[in-house]
Amino acid sequence: MKVAVFSSKPYDREFLSRVRDSDSAHKEVELIFHDFALGPETVSLANGADAVCVFVNDTLPASVIENLRQAGVRAILLRCAGYNNVDLSTAERLGLFVANVPAYSPEAVAEFAVALLQTLNRRTHRAYNRVREGNFSLDGLLGKTLNGKTVGILGVGKIGLAFARILRGFGCTLLAYDPFPIDAFREYGEYVELDELLSRSDFVSLHCPLMDSTRHIIDDHTLSKMKKGAILINTSRGGLIRTKSVIKALKTGHLGGLALDVYEKEGELFYQDHSGDIIQDDELMRLMTFPNVIVCGHQAFFTEEALTEIAESTLRNLQDFATNAPCKNSLVRGIDLKRRDSHPVRI
Ligand SMILES: NC(=O)c1ccc[n+]([C@@H]2O[C@H](COP(=O)([O-])OP(=O)(O)OC[C@H]3O[C@@H](n4cnc5c(N)ncnc54)[C@H](O)[C@@H]3O)[C@@H](O)[C@H]2O)c1
Repeated sequence: MKVAVFSSKPYDREFLSRVRDSDSAHKEVELIFHDFALGPETVSLANGADAVCVFVNDTLPASVIENLRQAGVRAILLRCAGYNNVDLSTAERLGLFVANVPAYSPEAVAEFAVALLQTLNRRTHRAYNRVREGNFSLDGLLGKTLNGKTVGILGVGKIGLAFARILRGFGCTLLAYDPFPIDAFREYGEYVELDELLSRSDFVSLHCPLMDSTRHIIDDHTLSKMKKGAILINTSRGGLIRTKSVIKALKTGHLGGLALDVYEKEGELFYQDHSGDIIQDDELMRLMTFPNVIVCGHQAFFTEEALTEIAESTLRNLQDFATNAPCKNSLVRGIDLKRRDSHPVRI
């Protein structure tokens, strides 16, 4: 079984190859690594493969999926949780198998969200640079004690819940907004409506998936509902935030800080070294001029444990496909379990 692995980095090669070699069930799997992304210009490189393996910034609209099908590809393996970049209905119509890795160390992402929150809150990103230049002044480094503060969580799934558990340890009051509440959260905090969450929270962290209904969930309107000076953290998907709106709110000081691991237009930049280039994205460059903004390049998942789990689940999904076994991570109707938009599809 040939798998064309797109957007592959040295660590993808290392972990996928290691898992493949460690389990005789995967001995027939041939991994062909491409370091570029899958998209309309590169889809021809999937010729001859039985499956493609893709990541967050590969783009699979209907045209790419049709080309994949014509090239003989029968399975799309996402080595990530989010699947907003794949036209699932076209894949379904053409009978392609699609599966993701719904959970890989949710704690890895939650811990990173907490790291961003505290970096921004306690200004350690500024202290780091300052001290290296022999400046030990504390001016401008004043933060807030987290204990007793209110933290709002948008989306309490696996990551949101792991985030809640950590923040509870800090002694925070936790509020959550999620159209599909789960009982597991109730021991940590309280579900409220979105407006109430925004108006009461000192820190807001986004953990819901990117869908049509959540695109730009943070915009001029919702930002105006936030408490003045509150800090916003996004480790979920860039499209949840309307970048123009946060720039405006940062300029007026209404938004007290912004920490991003993901960015609306990250597809053109993230996971590549652009340090010698003139970056053309003026909104991203404007964001990076604010002292109270931190931008990371979609690395919240990036731990040894998570990479191992991703490789194991991806190859297990492939094995299910190859052996026609029920696949618990299937995202398409008609093949297996139905799970969309983070919840079982009601059909
Ligand atoms: N930065 C990273 O490295 C990284 C890694 C993994 C996942 N992620 C992102 O994190 C997101 C969350 O992951 P997860 O594993 O916790 O997913 P999950 O499916 O377990 O949870 C998502 C939650 O969001 C809720 N939700 C759906 N619509 C909502 C809405 N309109 N408002 C509020 N909540 C809503 C769902 O009900 C669910 O409880 C993923 O969708 C992915 O985009 C980022």
